[in-house]
Amino acid sequence: MLKEIFHLSYVSTASECLKFDDFRKILESANHNNNEKNITGILVYCNNHFFQILEGNKEDVLSIYENILVDRRHDNLIKLQEGYSEKRQFERWEMAFKSYNTELQQLDNFNNEEFYSYLKDQLSDSNHVSLKILTDFFDLNGNAQLVSENIH
Ligand SMILES: Cc1cc2nc3c(=O)[nH]c(=O)nc-3n(C[C@H](O)[C@H](O)[C@H](O)COP(=O)(O)O)c2cc1C
Repeated sequence: MLKEIFHLSYVSTASECLKFDDFRKILESANHNNNEKNITGILVYCNNHFFQILEGNKEDVLSIYENILVDRRHDNLIKLQEGYSEKRQFERWEMAFKSYNTELQQLDNFNNEEFYSYLKDQLSDSNHVSLKILTDFFDLNGNAQLVSENIH
């Protein structure tokens, strides 16, 4: 199979004082724009940090990433990995969202257990470093209590 799906992952620090509406709007833009450009992926928010994987056509992923880089709702972006894979890891989501924050729970768009086993399955036939990081993240945090950061 050809390695034709480009993927890119990064971590970043959320800006101080992000409100519920900021998260809602980020996901709204992500779902809308990613759908138009056939981009899929996941965004995780935990303890004031974002982790994101974007996947799709290289030019489209990079053009979205250019926007994300200058977005003032976060900073200290550190790119973790970019490269090609044979298939998408998140084809069911324009942008899956998982938060470890009580106030943001209603924005999550998948069931925790289901998603965790989904990740394990994907990992078994891939050498995707980002996915390994994400799975480790879930291993560390899967049973963690949700925290409240007073996001309103
Ligand atoms: C953590 C984070 C993740 C984001 N993820 C996406 C994304 O996956 N797709 C996207 O189009 N915009 C994403 N954005 C928003 C972009 O930075 C930018 O605001 C948006 O693409 C502008 O498009 P709009 O004018 O249609 O809202 C993200 C922003 C942040 C802070």
